[in-house]
Amino acid sequence: MLLDNHGRIINYLRLAVTDRCNLRCFYCMPPEGIAWRPKAELMTYEEMLRICSLLVNMGIEKIRITGGEPFVRKDIMQFLTALSQLNGLQQINITTNGVLTAPLIPELKKIGIRSVNLSIDTLDRNRFLAITHRDELPNVLATLGQLLHHDIVVKLNAVVMDGKNIEDIIPLVELTKNLPVSVRFIEEMPFNGEGNHYTNLLWDHIRILNTIQEKYPTIQKIADPPFSTAYNYQIPGHKGTVGIIAAYTRSFCGTCNRIRITPQGVLKTCLYDNGVLNVKDLMRAGDSDVDLQNTLLGAMNKRAKDGFEAEKNRIGHEALHESMATIGG
Ligand code: 5AD
Ligand code: SF4
Repeated sequence: MLLDNHGRIINYLRLAVTDRCNLRCFYCMPPEGIAWRPKAELMTYEEMLRICSLLVNMGIEKIRITGGEPFVRKDIMQFLTALSQLNGLQQINITTNGVLTAPLIPELKKIGIRSVNLSIDTLDRNRFLAITHRDELPNVLATLGQLLHHDIVVKLNAVVMDGKNIEDIIPLVELTKNLPVSVRFIEEMPFNGEGNHYTNLLWDHIRILNTIQEKYPTIQKIADPPFSTAYNYQIPGHKGTVGIIAAYTRSFCGTCNRIRITPQGVLKTCLYDNGVLNVKDLMRAGDSDVDLQNTLLGAMNKRAKDGFEAEKNRIGHEALHESMATIGG
């Protein structure tokens, strides 16, 4: 079992396999995109498999594949297949924007992927275009249909943005009436690739809940699964559930079980830190497996207590400006 210096179990790795994306969600990237890292700066699949295998031996049980958009990276299906064969890894989950995903779902099912998070901030085609700068809502909805058809557990992620998708909160909640999905509303975070674009959060988790409660006064709190970052709710009679993720308020750090690795190999032991070491550089410098394991253990013993401490300790006191596409959501 892998424990950090605060006694928290670390069993969950979020691996961002690419910084590239085929959407331009305004809260994540500027419309012209971000400067993609040159390929040589990205970890190869071999390097990713090596680091995943080491971390699984150390206690990681679940890996989430994120990006950028994972399915824009070439040969991602081969990588997922190889990853699924790692001994000791219990679960691989994927976060996708759903643009290219629908036709791949039968194969994902075959590989053993049981749960997928689909980003969908609105059910309205025009608002989708305004938020993501691409007219791709029909493809995203096709992905949702395929996921349900193949009995894959679906979580729908919607970032709540003042002036952009507030009118979508209730329609998204309404999806839970007939569909066995978990619709999760996420507080907007200042990770848009161009620095802090707001000074105070207009839609925090409390305001989001109040808005849902006004329309559905019978909504009930349900148990949160262990390590959940969401407060979970259900409307009596609905098939699905509603979650609210206080990503900016950071009320879930006490049970944080996760670490992140960026496409460039930067290990982040908190979403709000700016990297604690680079596993790709260590591998390329010839570190042995034992060296790497010791270095990783050292990093687990220096984890910040919460996202506020991690933000304060950012190396060089650099402000939060990176894009979520380079962090891995
Ligand atoms: N604030 C909150 N959530 C974000 N995501 C991306 N950027 C942000 C942000 N600035 C979410 C996306 C997606 C996941 C990968 O991260 O909605 O669901
Ligand atoms: Fe792409 Fe996801 Fe960023 Fe949107 S939030 S631009 S889908 S990486």
